[in-house]
Amino acid sequence: MRHSPPGFGEVAARREFLRLSGRMGVGALLVAEASALAACASTSSPSSATSSAAAASDSLPRPPEIAGGTITASIGSQPVWSGTATTVWTLGGQFPGPTIRVVRGATFSARVENRLPEATNVHWHGLAAPPEMDGHPSDLISPGQSREVTFPVADRAGTYWYHPHPDGRTARQVYGGMAGFFIVEDPAEASLGLPSGEYDLPLVLQDRRTSAARSLDYDPGPMDVVSGLLGDAVLVNGRPGAELAAAATLYRLRLLNGSNARVYRLAFTDGRTFQVIGTDAGLIERPVAAASVDLGPGERVELLVDLSRDPVGSVVLLRSLPFGVPGGMGGGMMMGTGGAAQGAALDVLRLRVDRPGPAARIPASLVPLERLDPAEAASRQVFTLAMGMPPVAGAFTINGRSYDARRVDVRARRGILELWEVRNASSEPHPFHVHGTSFQVVARTSGALGPHEQGWKDTVLTWPGETVTLAIRFERHAGLYVLHCHNLEHEDAGMMLNMEVA
Ligand code: C2O
Ligand code: CU
Repeated sequence: MRHSPPGFGEVAARREFLRLSGRMGVGALLVAEASALAACASTSSPSSATSSAAAASDSLPRPPEIAGGTITASIGSQPVWSGTATTVWTLGGQFPGPTIRVVRGATFSARVENRLPEATNVHWHGLAAPPEMDGHPSDLISPGQSREVTFPVADRAGTYWYHPHPDGRTARQVYGGMAGFFIVEDPAEASLGLPSGEYDLPLVLQDRRTSAARSLDYDPGPMDVVSGLLGDAVLVNGRPGAELAAAATLYRLRLLNGSNARVYRLAFTDGRTFQVIGTDAGLIERPVAAASVDLGPGERVELLVDLSRDPVGSVVLLRSLPFGVPGGMGGGMMMGTGGAAQGAALDVLRLRVDRPGPAARIPASLVPLERLDPAEAASRQVFTLAMGMPPVAGAFTINGRSYDARRVDVRARRGILELWEVRNASSEPHPFHVHGTSFQVVARTSGALGPHEQGWKDTVLTWPGETVTLAIRFERHAGLYVLHCHNLEHEDAGMMLNMEVA
C-alpha cells in the first residue's frame, strides 16, 4: 500500500519528507543514546513511583509530581507491555510525563530541553499561557536547544495537560509518549473535602496498536489519516490492561483523553452511576449523576466513583461502551486500518477492591460558576470543519482553509463575548480546540449537552453533521494562537488555523 495517495501536493509532500527524515534520524540516535537513556528512564520509571499503599498486583502507574524545573524531551525505554522494553518518546524521562502541580496564582517556570533528533515544543493545553510560551506550531525548539518557559498560572483549579505541538509532527510525538498532566489547585477547591492523595487519580487514556514488536512506532497509512490513528488497546497512564488495587471508598478520577483520535463513551460495566464534578477547565457548580460520558481527544472529565459498598475482592470495570458514529462512515476497521473501529467497545481500567477504605462524602455543591450569556454576545463567527475524500493535499480544512503558518485566519478581541458556531460538515467526529482561553458550550444540534459540558471547556466534540455553539471570550493575552481539530492526524494534515487575539 502506498503511504500517499496520488495527487498529494506540496504540503503533504513536505510532511512526508519530514516524517521519513525524522525516522532515519531516530534510528541513528537510538544506537548512540539508547543505553544511557534506558538507564535514566528505569530509575525514574512510573512504577517505582507507585505509592506504598498499592498492592503488588496494582499495575497502574502514578507518574511522579513536579512543580517545574527541567523537562527534557528525549527518547528512552520503558516496560509499557510487561516483559518487554519499548522505545518511548518522553517529556521528563517517561511515558506519561511527570504530573505538574501548581497552585493558582503561582508562577510556573520550566526549562524545556530538546534531546530529540527533531524539533519539538510544548503546549500547556487549557492554560491561558502568553503566546510566546504557548507552544505555537511554528515556535520550535531545535534539537540540542532549550527554552525557558515562565508564566503566572491564572487559570481555575482543574485538570490540564501538556504535549508537543510542532506543525505536522504532533501526532507522532504524542503517540510515542510525549504528554503529561498539568494540575492547578486552589484553596476553594481544597476546602471541599474531595478525595485527595492516593484517592485522587489523574488517568490519561491513550489507545495504541499492539504490534508483535511491542513498539510505539508511528506509521499511519492514508486511511488512518481519515479516521485518525485508532489503536486496539487502551493504555491508562502508559499501561495496557491497567488494574488499580483500590480501597472501598470514594475516588476522584481525573480522566484525560490523550488519544490521537479515539472517542470514548466511558461507563462502568455494572451500570453504576458516578458523579461528574469537573470539565476541561475546572469544577462545575454541583455534582451531576451520570451513567456514561463521551470524551473526545483533548477533553477531560472529573468524576467521583463510590466504591464504599463494594466488598473486598470485587472488581469494577471502567470501559468504553460501543457506539455508532452518527452520520459517520462506519469507522476505521471497515476502512481497513489496523486498530479497533471508532466506537468499538474497549476495556479501560479494572478497579479491584482489595481493602477497606476511609469514609468519604460527596459535597452537595462545588464552586460558583460564571455563566456566559449568549444573548450578550457582540459578534458571531462560523467555523466549518470539512474533509475531502480520499485525502488529498488541502483536504482537511476549517472554513475551506488548510493550515498555513504564514497566514492569519481568525481575529478576536479581548473582552468581547462572541458566539462561535462550529459546524461539522464531514463524516468523522472532530474535537474542536481553542488556545488562549476557555469557553462554554451553549447548544448542540444533535441533542442535549453532556454532564461534563456544563462548565468551562477548551475542547468540544462535534459529531458528523452537527453544529455546536460556543460562548467564548478572550481575556488574558494578545498575540498569535491557533485553533484546531484535536484529532492529531487531522491537525497535522492541516485542520488548524492561526488566530490573532488583539
Ligand atoms: Cu492539546 Cu493545540 O492542543
Ligand atoms: Cu478532525
